[in-house]
Parts: sequence; C-alpha cells; structure tokens
Amino acid sequence: MERYGIVFGKNYELSMLELKSFSRRFRLGVQILEEHPGPPNASYALIKAKEDIERYFRFIGGSLKLVRIVGEGIEAVEYLEYARLFTVSLYGRDDWKLWRKLGSTIKRIFKEKDSTKFFKPAKIYAMPSELILKGFPETKDIVFFFKGNKVLVGETVRIADPFELKKLDVERPVVRPTISIPPRLARIMVNLSEVRRGNVLDPFCGTGTIVMELLLQGLIAYGSDISEDRIRDTRKNVEWLRKEFGIRHSASLRVCDVRRLRKCFRTRFDAIITEPYMGKALKTKPTRSEAVKMARELDRLYYQAFESFADVLKRNAKVVFVFPAFNLAEGGIYRRNRPWLDELGFDVITSVLDRDEKHKIVRDIHVITKKY
Ligand SMILES: C[S@@+](CC[C@H](N)C(=O)[O-])C[C@H]1O[C@@H](n2cnc3c(N)ncnc32)[C@H](O)[C@@H]1O
Repeated sequence: MERYGIVFGKNYELSMLELKSFSRRFRLGVQILEEHPGPPNASYALIKAKEDIERYFRFIGGSLKLVRIVGEGIEAVEYLEYARLFTVSLYGRDDWKLWRKLGSTIKRIFKEKDSTKFFKPAKIYAMPSELILKGFPETKDIVFFFKGNKVLVGETVRIADPFELKKLDVERPVVRPTISIPPRLARIMVNLSEVRRGNVLDPFCGTGTIVMELLLQGLIAYGSDISEDRIRDTRKNVEWLRKEFGIRHSASLRVCDVRRLRKCFRTRFDAIITEPYMGKALKTKPTRSEAVKMARELDRLYYQAFESFADVLKRNAKVVFVFPAFNLAEGGIYRRNRPWLDELGFDVITSVLDRDEKHKIVRDIHVITKKY
C-alpha cells in the first residue's frame, strides 16, 4: 500500500462517492485517511491504496490528479527525484509568497544535481492539469497538501486527461448539448455501477455518451432509444470513437421503447447506466407545486422503466440512474422520494446531487441494486 493525495474536481461529494466505488470496482483497497472538502478543483483526500491505482486512474472521472506522497514536513522535498522542469501546486493554502519560496527551495536542491527550471506560467498556486499535461511527464508537478501546521509533500504521478474528455465532448460527429451528458459524468457513472466486466445497457442512449464510455472501458456495450434519429446519432458517434481510439469491438444498438426491453434484448445485463428523458426544457425555475407536478408525471415513465429493468437485469445488478431534482423559484431544491422502487424489488444504495445553482433541473444521481 502506498500513500497518495487525490485532488477532486467540481463536486466533492460525487467525487468521493466515485472514488469509493472505483476502489471496489478495481479492488484497489483504498482507505481514506483524511478528507478535505473545499472549493471546486481544490478539495482533496489523503488515502492509502494499492499501486494499481496508478494504472487504473485513467478510468476515473471526478478526480483530477493522483499525487504520490514522499513525506511529511517541508524537509521531505529532499526525497523528491530531480527534474529538469517542475511546477509547484499548493492545496489547503493560497499563498503566493509561500508558493514562490517553496519553488526556490526545490530549485536550490535540484540544482545541486543539474540545471533545472521552475515553471511558473501564471499566479496560480495549484497547477491545472491542462498546463502540466503539455509537458508531462517531463514536467514534475510537486504538490504540498497543507492542514493547519502540517504539510505533506508529493509528486503528481497521474493526471485525468482533460483533453481526452474534451475531444469526446466536442469532436464527435453528433453533439447535442441540450440532451447529452458530459463525458466526465458518464465516466463517473460507470464507476458508480462498479461493473468490471459484462453486459451494460443505456436504454435512453440519446447521442451515445454513455455507450461510448462503456466501449472505451472495454465493457460489452448496449444502447437503445425510442427515437430512430437518436440511434442513428449514437451509431455515428460510436463509429467515430472506434476509429479515433482504435477500438475493435462495437456496441449493440436498437430502437426500443424502454418499456419493452425484454422484447428488444435477449441479453441479461450486469448493469444499466442511464440518464433518462427528464421533461421539457424549462425557461424559468419552477415553483414547488409545478416541480411536484412535473416529477409526478415523469415518475410514471420511470416506474414503467424500472418494471422493464427488472425483466432484463441479473440478480444483484446495479442501476445508475439520473432522476431530475428541481431548483425552485422560491429557493431550495425539490427531490422526490420513490417508495415504489422498493415495491419493484430495487434498493436505493445512495444518491447524490450534481448541484448547479444556474440550472433549473438538477441531476439527482442514484445508485440502485436489484434485490432479487
Ligand atoms: C436525456 S436524453 C439521454 C442523453 C444521453 N445520455 C446522451 O448523452 O446523449 C433522453 C433520451 O431518452 C429518449 N426517450 C424518451 N422516451 C423514451 C422511451 N419511452 N424509451 C426509450 N427512450 C426514450 C429520448 O429520445 C432521448 O434521446
């Protein structure tokens, strides 16, 4: 077991949940030593994990950097390996002077070995992945995690590649920002399902973001949608993905109403991962009674969807499902309870909001298991 710091992206709670599922999924034995919630892109956790986490890190969606800890206290910089070019990132402290001082200290130490350069592109204390990646691995990102008077020193060993996610998002042939989920979220949802291998279905596949992620992760991907046009979109995107990423296998895609999955597929699935139809786009935030009405109407479709899921899922299979929650005109948020899930034989393990004040509809991501 090694000690690592892991720097999270936008949503601390979701990233933490993903990390725990990710650990079970790839049997990485992650133990959380310390949690440090914080602002977007600056929260982190200190963990112990098997070294395999470095190999699997490219499959994580909600984390930005994996930092191998070399020691405690500023003196631990002595244990860092020499680098010709390095950057410095501080977490838990925004202090420009300190940032520069630490950079100079490291430079002095490295210089004893050979020439070195402290790469300081702008006044930022935590180097964003995009900047490090341009020079990575030649550019070493040296990281300091502060907590009170304590500091841990480490170096970034893996970076979740933002360029790959961007490419998946904007370079694929069919992009529909109004209905598509971000590739990063698709990646998080695949981890939440904890499937390592097997048949996975997105029955509201739209433009195919989740299907593409399943293929990238080597899973057996199935997609369906009620709309012929959307299946055509998914097909185009999948073909593009296979060419761009050199993927040999393909996805099984069908035009299918979610209520008739048993008729469309003979397969039994290990997981369903999906963002369903979430109602018409809203112009303004709804009032509570409007939200209740919309959610109740949508629940009719979701109820039938889960009835149908029960027909095609294996026992104990997982469903990762985005229910809509609503940011209300009067403030606050409307989230619905769904006792009918239990009646249909499903257990809600956990749910977490992908909170965004600007949006009228908020994603309420649920992890659910089929009980029998
Ligand atoms: C929010 S989109 C899914 C977006 C998708 N995750 C993506 O990234 O493109 C919802 C999809 O559900 C489909 N849909 C609506 N009602 C359906 C039904 N009864 N059965 C199957 N699909 C349905 C719509 O055609 C739409 O493509």
